[in-house]
Amino acid sequence: MMNRSNKSFSLQSLLLLQLLNFCIFIIGEAVPPYIPIENISINCGSFSDSIAWDGRLWSGESNSKFPVINSQNKLSVFLNASTGHVPYITGRLSYSEFSYIIPLTSGQKFIRLHFHVNSYPEFNLSKAFFSVKAGPFTLLRNFSALLHAQGEETLVKEFCVSIQDGQNLNITFTPSSAITDAYAFINGIEIVSMPANLFYRPANDAGVSFLGQSNLYSFGNDTALEMFYRLSVGGMSIPPTEDTGMYRAWSDDFEYITSASYFTVNNSINLTFSAIPSFSAPESIYRTARVMGPNRTFNEHSNLTWQFPVDSDFDYFVRLHFCEMHDVVAEPGDRVFVIFIANLTAESQADVIAWSGGSRIPKYRDYVVAIKNKGNQKKQNLSIKLHPALGRYIDAILNGVEIFKLSKGGDLSGPNPDPMPNLLEPMKPPIEQSGKKWKIIVAVVGLISTFAAASLLFFLILRIRSSKFANKSSRALPSDICRHFSLREIKAATNNFDENFIIGRGGFGNVYKGFINAGSIPVAIKRLNPGSQQGVLEFRTEIEMLSQLRHQNLVSLMGYCKDNNEMILVYDYMVHGTLRDHLYNTNNPPLQWEKRLKMCIAAAQGLHYLHRGPKDTIIHRDVKTTNILLSEKWVAKVSDFGLSKMNDLSNTHISTAVKGSFGYLDPEYFRLQQLTEKSDVYSFGVVLCEVLCARAPIDRAMDHLQISLAEWAQHCYNNGTLDQIMDPYLQGKINLPSLLKFGEVAMSCLATEGIKRPAMSEVVCGLELALQLQESGINGNDENHVNDSTVIDYHVLFTSGSGSLNVGR
Ligand SMILES: *[C@@H]1O[C@H](CO)[C@@H](O)[C@H](O)[C@H]1NC(C)=O
Ligand SMILES: *[C@@H]1O[C@H](CO)[C@@H](O)[C@H](O)[C@H]1NC(C)=O
Ligand SMILES: *[C@@H]1O[C@H](CO)[C@@H](O)[C@H](O)[C@H]1NC(C)=O
Ligand SMILES: *[C@@H]1O[C@H](CO)[C@@H](O)[C@H](O)[C@H]1NC(C)=O
Ligand SMILES: *[C@@H]1O[C@H](CO)[C@@H](O)[C@H](O)[C@H]1NC(C)=O
Ligand SMILES: *[C@@H]1O[C@H](CO)[C@@H](O)[C@H](O)[C@H]1NC(C)=O
Ligand SMILES: *[C@@H]1O[C@H](CO)[C@@H](O)[C@H](O)[C@H]1NC(C)=O
Ligand SMILES: *[C@@H]1O[C@H](CO)[C@@H](O)[C@H](O)[C@H]1NC(C)=O
Ligand SMILES: *[C@@H]1O[C@H](CO)[C@@H](O)[C@H](O)[C@H]1NC(C)=O
Ligand SMILES: *[C@@H]1O[C@H](CO)[C@@H](O)[C@H](O)[C@H]1NC(C)=O
Ligand SMILES: *[C@@H]1O[C@H](CO)[C@@H](O)[C@H](O)[C@H]1NC(C)=O
Ligand SMILES: *[C@@H]1O[C@H](CO)[C@@H](O)[C@H](O)[C@H]1NC(C)=O
Repeated sequence: MMNRSNKSFSLQSLLLLQLLNFCIFIIGEAVPPYIPIENISINCGSFSDSIAWDGRLWSGESNSKFPVINSQNKLSVFLNASTGHVPYITGRLSYSEFSYIIPLTSGQKFIRLHFHVNSYPEFNLSKAFFSVKAGPFTLLRNFSALLHAQGEETLVKEFCVSIQDGQNLNITFTPSSAITDAYAFINGIEIVSMPANLFYRPANDAGVSFLGQSNLYSFGNDTALEMFYRLSVGGMSIPPTEDTGMYRAWSDDFEYITSASYFTVNNSINLTFSAIPSFSAPESIYRTARVMGPNRTFNEHSNLTWQFPVDSDFDYFVRLHFCEMHDVVAEPGDRVFVIFIANLTAESQADVIAWSGGSRIPKYRDYVVAIKNKGNQKKQNLSIKLHPALGRYIDAILNGVEIFKLSKGGDLSGPNPDPMPNLLEPMKPPIEQSGKKWKIIVAVVGLISTFAAASLLFFLILRIRSSKFANKSSRALPSDICRHFSLREIKAATNNFDENFIIGRGGFGNVYKGFINAGSIPVAIKRLNPGSQQGVLEFRTEIEMLSQLRHQNLVSLMGYCKDNNEMILVYDYMVHGTLRDHLYNTNNPPLQWEKRLKMCIAAAQGLHYLHRGPKDTIIHRDVKTTNILLSEKWVAKVSDFGLSKMNDLSNTHISTAVKGSFGYLDPEYFRLQQLTEKSDVYSFGVVLCEVLCARAPIDRAMDHLQISLAEWAQHCYNNGTLDQIMDPYLQGKINLPSLLKFGEVAMSCLATEGIKRPAMSEVVCGLELALQLQESGINGNDENHVNDSTVIDYHVLFTSGSGSLNVGR
């Protein structure tokens, strides 16, 4: 429901969004398709007007435009929020009934009630049971925000009502009488006009299709609606500021889709609003959709299904949004499908092109369905199922869904959801570092003179604001260094962690290929194994460190996600995969020697940068050919750096174990358990051997002596037979001096004692020399062809000293 989508926007991203909106405003393109006549937002419990993150002005209550009528003791509560935003910073709580009287013009309006589900000192949240009436309509009865929020921090309830001529709207909050010490509370109220008959039926209208009944269903001004679901199908959630002017929030559909499906996005199409008004839904609703996809022949006889829990015993208004955007679907009859709503056939021949009049023309269709009370269940699923019918293109499509409950005799109230485990306990202790700490000041108005109270509260608001700003600047991380992604965005990018999107599996977890920014940018998404013990703070610290590391030979961290116990890192996508993918056990064509050298130099430079570090030395601890990735332009980049510490923290029970990959492990580290950057140098030596020999570091199919590549290569090098174990593809293509220089560098890296291994800067120089020797020499010529005797000669010539390289030669 709406509260869920609300939560997925962090304050930072909202501020960013606002900045974006602001920029658009400056350019002068911000006129929404619909300008509401009434556009009211009340910041309950606040005495002054405040600008919220969405740029809207939330009126304080002292502003007597919207008087509050309340006979008995009233209490305003100020929450000292270090995060949190208007209208959730202040609220109004009362043990007795109170009303807001809001002067409105006639017409149909959205009413949105904002609740901040938090513990209010002196008010036990589990005692908040109340009714809300708006004019003649009962919107909520015996309502518990705590139970409805299902663990979320904020909750928004949205209704539609029609106001008759020149009425004042009286919104009344009444604590339940059945519960002792029950109280009512509210944090924010929004009233936004809607275009005439956006959902309501005009007087001359026959009504909408009433499923399972022979008559049509018409609902007029005496009916109130409650929004249950408003989804962007296959797309990302859309915040209120990006709606068409009505400030509606649209969620994504991941929680509701229950069958395999594909989503499709085409951001480059231009839409033509010739069948419905352009304010019906944001354009992005119509640019994203779900279809059965390439596997539709397999799915031909099954349904594309969504399940929506709703209250039993009400009628529901269902609006389905469609827009064909595939070039192949252009004529009526191209894509025809069946639509079932709550198991009833809503359409037997759904044909979007026939309805809308063409491709890229948005269209919606409305239905009403009754959900009967079966077996006394509070909640039942209202399902939407699509199933291909005969057509040239066997598939089905859906772009958006809206589901509203229709009032019964002016009453919309439904039961409270069942409590989630532990929810009746006072709210979980706030976590200091995540900034969720709320402190509360209760001002008892009426005891002090109004003036004194008002000036005190004004002072407090100032303090709250200034502490908020101070807080923001000290928490520079992360959005200004690297981007915070919501879990929804990550799920949208990976089709909800679809197995088909996995491009790698590692010790840290799976790596997915995904697309962000509505499918336009490919990224690699690393989902660290769930259920780890790591705290938010450590993760944040790691991200901070990683996002400061910028080098052309490191895979950049683009962003991260830390929601619902998930720890996810988002990286640039490396088109050509891992270096190993181009060396052995592969169908890729072999790489030329120069190319290999350049990749080794690049990777060595990346490691050198890490070892020098912006502040401290960073030891990679897992240097291997699968952690060296290749970009579109074949530039090698080191990946997976800095995660080692994180991995330690997330596996505390095994944290004393030696880290690294088998076959690459520095024997000295293994023996002494003491980590230095020279362990990375050893592993890099193994990488160099792999690059030369195109075989795995450990190959158990080999002879005993040859199992370990590092040992075998050292053995061959010392016997002058390195050429016999090198990649057969390279035979005759390497200039001998280049090979010898390369072999020398590799062997020095593999030195038993760490201090005898070169620094990465020396490795870079050595490899550059090998490249120069290759480029200046004559290639693949028989005279320069490596053979046993020459190897021995050059061996003597090029290896002097026992570890450091003689780069100058
Ligand atoms: C609604 O009111 C706010 C001021 O509170 C204003 O900034 C905004 O533009 C208005 N929205 C529309 C769609 O007119
Ligand atoms: C709000 O909380 C912060 C930190 O918890 C505290 O420093 C500040 O004094 C509080 N402000 C008020 C008005 O109590
Ligand atoms: C709040 O009320 C519930 C149920 O009435 C009770 O179990 C709980 O102990 C109360 N909590 C506090 C902090 O008083
Ligand atoms: C507002 O409505 C409530 C409940 O319907 C009623 O008790 C109250 O008198 C009304 N107030 C005004 C000013 O109309
Ligand atoms: C409902 O109210 C609106 C605005 O007051 C009016 O334009 C419309 O005609 C009414 N509809 C019906 C069916 O009475
Ligand atoms: C998206 O629409 C544009 C414009 O019609 C078209 O050129 C392009 O091929 C479409 N892309 C996809 C993936 O369908
Ligand atoms: C979409 O409309 C814009 C502005 O009118 C135009 O520049 C662009 O070429 C159109 N794109 C397509 C695919 O028709
Ligand atoms: C299509 O369905 C078949 C049968 O279940 C399955 O094996 C295959 O992996 C599916 N392909 C895709 C791309 O989902
Ligand atoms: C699709 O859904 C409809 C309506 O619930 C049902 O009658 C039909 O059996 C379903 N088809 C399949 C293959 O599940
Ligand atoms: C639809 O059919 C399913 C399975 O047959 C059943 O579980 C569900 O209760 C039905 N839904 C309604 C609203 O009748
Ligand atoms: C609704 O459907 C979901 C997904 O299939 C299922 O997990 C849930 O139990 C269903 N709820 C009810 C009330 O049938
Ligand atoms: C109010 O809601 C609570 C929690 O769902 C329920 O236990 C109680 O019976 C309800 N009371 C009334 C009077 O409906």
